[in-house]
Amino acid sequence: MARIHNSLTDLIGDTPLVELHNYRRNHGLGARILVKIEYLNPAGSVKDRLAWALVQDAEERGLLTPGATLVDVTSGNTGIALAAIGAARGYRVKIYASDNISPDKFRLLEHYGAEVVKVDNAFFLDPEALEKITARIREENPDAVFTDQLANPANPEVHYRTTGPEIWEATGGVVDAFVAGVGTGGTISGVGRYLKERNPSVHLAIAEPAFASLPSEDNPHPPEIDGVHHVTEALPEQLPANFARDIVDEIVPLDPVEAAATARQLAREEGILAGTSAGAILFAATELARRPDFAGKTIVALLPDSGERYLNASTFRAAS
Ligand SMILES: Cc1ncc(COP(=O)(O)O)c(C=O)c1O
Repeated sequence: MARIHNSLTDLIGDTPLVELHNYRRNHGLGARILVKIEYLNPAGSVKDRLAWALVQDAEERGLLTPGATLVDVTSGNTGIALAAIGAARGYRVKIYASDNISPDKFRLLEHYGAEVVKVDNAFFLDPEALEKITARIREENPDAVFTDQLANPANPEVHYRTTGPEIWEATGGVVDAFVAGVGTGGTISGVGRYLKERNPSVHLAIAEPAFASLPSEDNPHPPEIDGVHHVTEALPEQLPANFARDIVDEIVPLDPVEAAATARQLAREEGILAGTSAGAILFAATELARRPDFAGKTIVALLPDSGERYLNASTFRAAS
């Protein structure tokens, strides 16, 4: 059988599920935790799935001509994925990102040749930030294709079509809980909908940065979890359109330093080098796995990206 791929995009998806045997033993957990390693996607994160879906969607709608520009707002990974896929397909990429995301991500974006617009992190304290940044992108880029990961239905749809079925098939349907984080909400909404359709009793949990850990006027640059937002106190209009809030059964708050410390435990106990949001998601999965009612159950935690992306990030450094 031929083993030659024609494009980077052929390598997206079908990521492995790995059971954390050492971690379960070391932490005395009653439930088993399986991690879905999304950093094994070719541009290094879960966002490869979404970026490819957004590009295919735009191509199918006839919006993309060779040399066209793709634009989006991102905490880095969608930008990196768009930049890689844009390079492979012959499109330019322009990214709006908060200036507090990991410096490693800015280097990656530049390395792939993307144009980067840094947005002051304090801007995102505005309750109308999502609406305002969307309007700004449309106004400043009238000729570009705005992929709009926050609202484009192709985002949850790709997780419904690929990530959810991959988890179901890999576990033979033995999955009692699924844990993710919410950036756009695409992962939890798409995977969650698929799993609940197969088995309505699957428990869906999300990890969020605790309210006390969020940036404020007094402390505008605390350690943060790139890509994962606090949703509990948010008004419905402040949440991304792609986040199906009603599908979530439980929200687990944590401090970003706990997320980074959990990512470090995963590296040291299993050799799995995952990022800060992955640490947050594993922290939440661990909370479930400790509960008597989860004894013997199977919890799937999705690890969005690699720790290599955060070696220079303040959150990772704060935890060491
Ligand atoms: C590192 C990281 N983790 C988690 C997420 C959340 O994924 P989703 O946008 O599907 O909610 C993102 C999204 O930006 C991310 O960049």
